[in-house]
Amino acid sequence: MKNWIEQEYRNRIQAESVNDSLVGKRLFFAGWAFRYRDQGGVIFVDLRDRSGVIQVVCRKELLGEEFSKVEKIRSEYVIGVSGTLAFRDSDSVNPKMVTGKYELIVEKIEILNASKTPPFALDEFDPTGEEVRLKYRYLDMRREELKERLISRHKLIFAIRQYLNDESFLEIETPILNKSTPEGARDFLVPSRLNQGQFYALPQSPQLFKQILMIGGMERYFQIVKCFRDEDLRADRQPEFTQLDMEFAFVSEEDIRREIEAMWKFALDKVFGVKINTPFETMPYHVAMEEYGSDKPDIRFGMKLVNVSELVKDSDFQVFSGAVTTGGVVKVICVPGGANISRKEIEDLTSWLNRDYRAKGLAYMKHGASGLESTITKRFKPEVLEAIAKAVGSKEGDMLFFGADSSKIVNASLGALRLKLSEKYDPPKTEYNFHWVVDFPMFEYDDASKTWTFLHHPFTSPKEEHWEMLRDWKAGKTVDLSKIDAKAYDLVLNGTEIGGGSIRIHNSEIQSLVLEAIGIDEASAKDKFGFLLEALSFGAPPHGGIAFGIDRVMMILTKGQSIRDVIAFPKTQKGQCLMSEAPGFVEGKQLEELKLRVVTI
Ligand code: AMO
Ligand code: AMP
Repeated sequence: MKNWIEQEYRNRIQAESVNDSLVGKRLFFAGWAFRYRDQGGVIFVDLRDRSGVIQVVCRKELLGEEFSKVEKIRSEYVIGVSGTLAFRDSDSVNPKMVTGKYELIVEKIEILNASKTPPFALDEFDPTGEEVRLKYRYLDMRREELKERLISRHKLIFAIRQYLNDESFLEIETPILNKSTPEGARDFLVPSRLNQGQFYALPQSPQLFKQILMIGGMERYFQIVKCFRDEDLRADRQPEFTQLDMEFAFVSEEDIRREIEAMWKFALDKVFGVKINTPFETMPYHVAMEEYGSDKPDIRFGMKLVNVSELVKDSDFQVFSGAVTTGGVVKVICVPGGANISRKEIEDLTSWLNRDYRAKGLAYMKHGASGLESTITKRFKPEVLEAIAKAVGSKEGDMLFFGADSSKIVNASLGALRLKLSEKYDPPKTEYNFHWVVDFPMFEYDDASKTWTFLHHPFTSPKEEHWEMLRDWKAGKTVDLSKIDAKAYDLVLNGTEIGGGSIRIHNSEIQSLVLEAIGIDEASAKDKFGFLLEALSFGAPPHGGIAFGIDRVMMILTKGQSIRDVIAFPKTQKGQCLMSEAPGFVEGKQLEELKLRVVTI
């Protein structure tokens, strides 16, 4: 025999679905006791469920014996109540609550479970530290902030699936136990019990499989998929994260961009009511680096980097002239209204840029009443100072910061400085800005290993007009590999790379040349991804694709500080789950079965 409450579950209504038409009706709610007020003989409980909060009123005169149950209720007790919905007296209406004009006059109540006192208040105003919220993630989830984020994350994924289904994409799953996928990070490895000494690698992305799906004739694929990368973690990086992964056959770069723009336009409007303009702006990689010092520039504000190498190369200021003669650059940013930045602040900025970006210094000039002023201005001819002010468009009250070094260091340091100073001196002019970065170089020289490496991944197609350069390189001619451009594109939202992709190589000759250029010889290519190379020789259609970091998109749209804020169970900077305490040691028996022994070196 079911008790009364079990019979009520199916009639349960959600707190925030109450409306005028339900007033006077008998209703059943179940949820958590969020707040309660004991007024002697009357206890008010704010009952919280997933949808929101409703005030329930427990009167001793109405409940009789049952009232003793109400007196036992504490924060986060789980309760079921049934009663009659009523309008509150006009003086106790709470305009801040969606259900603020209603209350439930309780006739029956059951405590379904007790709760220990939570280690932090679940009130949205409680500024609880992240560590304790991660340890008690289930309690954090009961709070408005995380709950709302998880709900909008669901809605976003649902809207994307709906859109892509309507556009004839198929969602196809690909294996998690894999061979290594070369995306440039370290693999997570899983030992194989049935194949001793061998390991699976968790996918850094489904890159190879989605290409194979195109070769298999699937034409339009997508997948909302977990990817795994063992890399140093930051605010926008997790060891496991979620991609919206896509691949298309018979498309141009343009086609992919248009399709993607329409998808984001649809999903953002549907889920967040955010209207975005399409087509998105397109910026070549070299412009992004030159003007913003970054391949994922935030273009919602100015303070662009201006190259003044030509203007200062003959000056008496050795820091600048020396940088130019040794093959470096001198760039400057103009901080509007920044002339009041103090000496102490400049010193702090200088040591930060030195520590994090290896910048040797941070020369500066103020734009005063009679032009640029600084301890170093006497080393420049007046016309040079004027030309610098003109080049950056500075006016009285502005501050100019200079970087003189290799272009790599100058771009990285001034690019970071620009981001840091934006909020105070030049805040973003629009809320959301999507733009494409295109025309990436195919290869990049890695100073540490003294080898060429790929910028996107080795299956990205070089531009057709540059194929000849690869053939020349193979023939032993001198070719600057950095001049070969890729058919690759990134999508940037507010200065965060939210997605990247490319048109792929569908031709075995070019694929072999690219692999050779980055030092992967035929034997190791065959060993690592021979299955893809072989598949490419069975009528591979021209194809391309892209993948988006869903966590990053969610972080930006819900104004989170890190992607941990939009993941139900995220890991810390050290890759740990504070709730489940993963990773952990395993039992000797498990290692025995795998024929493994742990030796820490
Ligand atoms: P890429 O490596 O650029 O491309 O990854 C695509 C997008 O995934 C997100 N992302 C991450 N998000 C959170 N934590 C991480 N550790 C992390 N790493 C990447 C970023 C990034 O833009 N296979 C290719 C795509 C393709 O060519 O189609 C790929 O994975 O938002
Ligand atoms: P110094 O001549 O070394 O005392 O430096 C004079 C000014 O130039 C100081 O403000 C330094 O911070 C700055 N400076 C030194 N090296 C660099 C550099 N590589 N790039 C930009 N500014 C620099």
